[in-house]
Amino acid sequence: WATSAHIHENFLQCLSHQVPNSNSFSKVIFTPHNSSYASILQSFIRNLRFTTPVTPKPLVIVTPLQEAHIQAAIYCAKEHGMNFRVRSGGHDYEGLSYVSYEVPFVIVDLVHFQSITIDVENSTAWVQVGATIGQLYYRIAEKSKTLGFSAGVCPTVGVGGHFSGGGYGMMSRKYGIAADNIIDARLIDVNGRIHDRKSMGEDLFWAIRGGGGASFGVILAWHIKLVPVPKIVTVFTVNRTLEQNATKLVHRWQYASFVSLFLGGVDTLVPLMQESFPELGLVRDDCIEMSWIDSILYFADLSGEPLDVLLNRNPSVADYYFKGKSDYATEPISEEGLDRIWKELIAAPIETFEFLFSPFGGRIKKGSSAFNRHMTWIRRFYNFMAPFVSMSPRSAYLNYRDLDLGVNNKGNTSYAQASIWGLKYFGVNFERLAHVKTMVDPGNFFKNEQSIPIL
Ligand code: FDA
Repeated sequence: WATSAHIHENFLQCLSHQVPNSNSFSKVIFTPHNSSYASILQSFIRNLRFTTPVTPKPLVIVTPLQEAHIQAAIYCAKEHGMNFRVRSGGHDYEGLSYVSYEVPFVIVDLVHFQSITIDVENSTAWVQVGATIGQLYYRIAEKSKTLGFSAGVCPTVGVGGHFSGGGYGMMSRKYGIAADNIIDARLIDVNGRIHDRKSMGEDLFWAIRGGGGASFGVILAWHIKLVPVPKIVTVFTVNRTLEQNATKLVHRWQYASFVSLFLGGVDTLVPLMQESFPELGLVRDDCIEMSWIDSILYFADLSGEPLDVLLNRNPSVADYYFKGKSDYATEPISEEGLDRIWKELIAAPIETFEFLFSPFGGRIKKGSSAFNRHMTWIRRFYNFMAPFVSMSPRSAYLNYRDLDLGVNNKGNTSYAQASIWGLKYFGVNFERLAHVKTMVDPGNFFKNEQSIPIL
């Protein structure tokens, strides 16, 4: 602890040299002695699992107002051996943007980097990483009724973590994930240098679009390509119980290619569905025509709210405790397999869980504080799912981070050891990511429990 206090002091002194104006220093740097430390830390914690008294806390939180403040935080953390975490929207499933199991650590919280500039003429936008996807959707819709962006469903998700880890949502089948639609980025590297796509080079630009930003630097902003949307889209939600043949439908859905956001009107959709997926029995009454931006509210369960609810960074439902897992089914699951899964779910010894099939990946998340019982169940159910999903290696979606897959050692971790979890998230891309990491951060400064190792 004495060492940690010492590091803390030196780190603060270093920052005060780097951020000399005392007025801005007090607005940028927060230690546990400041009255607003707790509320700043708490403001973007989206998983109550990481709010307990034993959750490791940062020695310092930096909320930069300028790029120079981020450069200062990197420089001082490197000089004084502080672990470094960067937070944009705070939605990390395992809290890695604000919890470090290697202490002492500093959080750089990019809450003040929220500017969004829409260029309708070129169908592009610059968005700073501290903005949420809700804010981005709102600003697009403010300027155009026929442009949208393909990213996640929950409006409070941050653009920093989300785009760098993939980012899929209702339009991903048609337009790919968020990372597919990034055309440039600004990033600060381990030496404090600011890069764009050209100066960072194509390898690093590739790595931060799916490999997670946290291993490579601090991303400041993304330049994105907006996608065309018609003035009218159609949404539907069809609920079916097991008695209403849910097994057959889910089985069929795995073969059929349909999404419940249709980029067009109901007159086109209904005959299309009758032809390609008649078993669902979709009728006009199930469908609602609306603008693309209203469909964002619909899928976020915010229908009827004014549009500017998208600018709200706090979730409309209270935060909850959860543990998530994901996998990819590489073959359609058989009806018999689905029956077994339903039985397992019905017998689940816990009250709340969510089991989600997405056009890629599956997600199970839970709420409730009966913690150990839930954690034990979700791990057992994950093992139960093994015959139905990917294998050799079993795979997972980075943005649904899961530390059960394996974690880095304190200090450095060998490539072989990190492969245990790395191959699950990245498959054959893991090796290339490790090459990029070795090239851009050979000292392994940007490190967390599942950061890419150096070779
Ligand atoms: P957060 O700030 O926690 O960052 C996540 C990771 O990225 C951390 O490792 C962090 O250090 C790093 N990071 C953040 N900003 C960075 C920066 N500027 N530079 C470098 N590294 C940075 N996913 C999806 O694809 N579709 C969806 O619909 C949803 N919906 C959803 C709903 C809810 C309620 C949750 C909790 C999560 C999702 N997700 C999701 C998952 C989400 O995409 C994932 O958690 C993202 O990483 C969140 O990004 P944030 O910036 O909010 O997280």
